[in-house]
Amino acid sequence: MSRIVLAYSGGLDTSVLLKKLIIAGNEVVAMTADLGESDARAGQGAAAELEAVRQKALALGAYDAVVIDARERFMNEYVLPALAANALYEGVYPLSAALSRPLIAALLVETARRFHADTVAHGCTGKGNDQVRIELAVRALNPSLTVRAPLRETPLSRPDAIAYAAEHGVPVAHSAAKPYSVDANLWGRSIEAGVLEDPWAEPPEDAFAWTAAPAKRPREPDEVVIHFEEGMPSLSGVRGAVLVAQVNALAGAHGVGRIDLIEDRVIGVKSREVYEAPAATVLIAAHKALERITLTRDELRFKAVADQRYAELAYDGLWMSPLRGALDAFNGAFSRRITGDVRMRLYQGSAATAGVRSPYALYDEALATYGEGDAFDHHAAGGFIRCYGLPLDRVARLSLAVKA
Ligand code: ARG
Repeated sequence: MSRIVLAYSGGLDTSVLLKKLIIAGNEVVAMTADLGESDARAGQGAAAELEAVRQKALALGAYDAVVIDARERFMNEYVLPALAANALYEGVYPLSAALSRPLIAALLVETARRFHADTVAHGCTGKGNDQVRIELAVRALNPSLTVRAPLRETPLSRPDAIAYAAEHGVPVAHSAAKPYSVDANLWGRSIEAGVLEDPWAEPPEDAFAWTAAPAKRPREPDEVVIHFEEGMPSLSGVRGAVLVAQVNALAGAHGVGRIDLIEDRVIGVKSREVYEAPAATVLIAAHKALERITLTRDELRFKAVADQRYAELAYDGLWMSPLRGALDAFNGAFSRRITGDVRMRLYQGSAATAGVRSPYALYDEALATYGEGDAFDHHAAGGFIRCYGLPLDRVARLSLAVKA
């Protein structure tokens, strides 16, 4: 018998797992993290929903059950650093699930300390990325803890889970019959399984919950001005997790942020993943637009390479690695210049940059203009090209040039 802290969502799998661990004689503390999933669904009573999850764990016989409101922590320690890195895995996925797992791991470790538990457990299967992310983060934070993944040791099919639940008095919500596997937090919602496993099949409308179907989108565009102050985004003065919830609602109404990716998982398989991430899509696009006007060409080129590496680290479960910390410091070097406004136009599934301005803009209209007041020294360009082309000149004289 040991005391175990279990990452508990309140869903069928983790409820069955909770019951099994209790029946095996363990004292189980159910830990549920509030990462803003409910706020993103407009108008839901998040607090009441999460209290129901806590009560469910207690009713199942948990030694104790805690709900931790980690929304602002998720925003400050995970989402904002990822935004500074324009983090998109394989160019498109804003890493919503990937960013949440190291935080869930940190909360497991902290809860284990609080309850003097020597073991933490999660309900991931052996097939996904999340087991890797949680276990590597726990290792990095407290290598002496034991991590258990009971659903990896003994896989649980959906019919088995439902049968076990019926037998042991675990309430089964209506949604247990749902056709998809869904994970969500304020940075995005991921939808997997069911008909989506056929990569030729277009995701049906019922896969989506945060983004409006084409026929239901407004006929007119909406424009939002995202303000950045040293890398921190805001909309009409609203920041943090609340800002993200607002942008999710605004952009989601226009169908912005649907992503359909044949994705490369850490464990080696390709899978078809569908996401809805309206706010992440808008904020990363706005952030990139501001960088384009405030950073030098060299900085942009080098940062693009670093940004891709950053997304890979987050995806691959290496969030707690020293390289991620070093890249945060690198990105911090730009933050002062990430100040300004970006006008985003939301319309029929797209979020387009309509305008950008910054007190730190390197863009100089007098140098760029083709009209009146051109301050650029055209003559200087001739000398520049002569020097710049010297190697080609030599190559041509030796008849080594690549022929057209
Ligand atoms: N494929 C995405 C990722 O690896 C989403 C994972 C969602 N997790 C889940 N347990 N449904 O980040």
